[in-house]
Amino acid sequence: MTGINKIEIAKDNFTHRTTCRVCGSEKLHKFLSLGPTPLANSFLRENQLEAVEPYYPLDVYFCSNCYLVQLLDVVSPEVLFKEYAYVTGASKPMQAHFTGLVEDVIQNFKISEDGLIVDIGSNDGTLLQCFSKLGLQTLGIEPASNIARLAEAKGFRTVNEFFSEKCAVKIHEEHGNADVILATNVFAHTDDLEGFVRGIKYLLADNGTFVIEVPYLLNLLNNLEFDTIYHEHLSYFAVYPLIYLFRKFNMEVVDVKQVPVHGGSIRVFVQKAAKQQSQRVTALLLIEQEAKLDSLKTYTKFGEEVYSLKEKLVKLLKALKNEGVRITGYGATAKGNTLLNYCKIGTDILDYISDTTPFKQGCYTPGMHIPVFPEEEFHEDPPDYSLLLAWNYANEILQKERKYRQNGGKFILPIPEPKVI
Ligand code: TMP
Ligand code: ZN
Repeated sequence: MTGINKIEIAKDNFTHRTTCRVCGSEKLHKFLSLGPTPLANSFLRENQLEAVEPYYPLDVYFCSNCYLVQLLDVVSPEVLFKEYAYVTGASKPMQAHFTGLVEDVIQNFKISEDGLIVDIGSNDGTLLQCFSKLGLQTLGIEPASNIARLAEAKGFRTVNEFFSEKCAVKIHEEHGNADVILATNVFAHTDDLEGFVRGIKYLLADNGTFVIEVPYLLNLLNNLEFDTIYHEHLSYFAVYPLIYLFRKFNMEVVDVKQVPVHGGSIRVFVQKAAKQQSQRVTALLLIEQEAKLDSLKTYTKFGEEVYSLKEKLVKLLKALKNEGVRITGYGATAKGNTLLNYCKIGTDILDYISDTTPFKQGCYTPGMHIPVFPEEEFHEDPPDYSLLLAWNYANEILQKERKYRQNGGKFILPIPEPKVI
């Protein structure tokens, strides 16, 4: 039943750009190819298993002008985000994280009593809820219609659109300026960064603050988090290219903080007029310089390390299989699908993947077609080993599954290097 479908490189629904999305330069260098890959969140139902599955190039480039690391093959946002699987409210760690983010914003930036808070990529309203609890006016912008409906049903005003300059003008006409605009885990998903920033500039009050959270390139490199590379993530940001981008629009990165979500992210605060810049910005720029984020060599080396990690992981899994043990996957994550497809890990190695998300259960992973089972299966008939594909929740999961480990069950951590624990 499972096995890999006929692979077909998609001809539609994606474009290949030839210029850097931050600086427009053509000095782009490919340093890693993860091969043609299906979309990381396109889980399949049983009746889709025999159909041709579209694969898209997954190649990563470095711009030697502004140092942005990026994908140039852009899958249509309509295909990626019109219906979306990820619901923020389902993740307890993310809820707690957002509470901290709101405190950070409230404590450090002025918001007028009748000020408007706009969240771009507002998902089910989880982040906006923290602001509305404080009596502030909120507005969500969410392109996925299924998710926008969910937020509306919970009472959060939501514009069901992709954010753009045009969208900003429309919102401004209706609601006026925003004191705070947030874009958590959406900025790196955006191809037209210039249009996005023009929209922000238009909508943001003169003394307002734009807050971004994106996974941090430095963590990706240091922890070999190559599996966070998939078509939804178009840019892999460091502070330097962000400053470069905003300066093009006379906007300034005034502060930046490292936060421990999604394998290590940065929270970036941007304002219109250049006021004081926190020394945290200069400190991180220095760290980036020391880590040689401005040098192609750094990335070529990373590409080689990723290849060697794949070899090690596959060797370990095959050796375990030869001993006759049972292995499953833990967490049917999007990043897991990059890892499984790149390493060609299929049902010959993993019996199934356990996952708590109801709609993924009963489906098969894109590309490798590994069945996704509810977590109960894992608890009722524990495997000898489980490959931790949701490694970003390692702490919570190890805590939650201490019985499994006490009874001799083992986890395999895939990154930064394969390790049995
Ligand atoms: P995320 O990394 O995109 O937040 O997705 C996490 C996935 O892992 C999601 O499909 C739910 C799954 N998961 C479990 O199955 N068990 C767990 O204990 C946790 C924390 C996540
Ligand atoms: Zn560039």
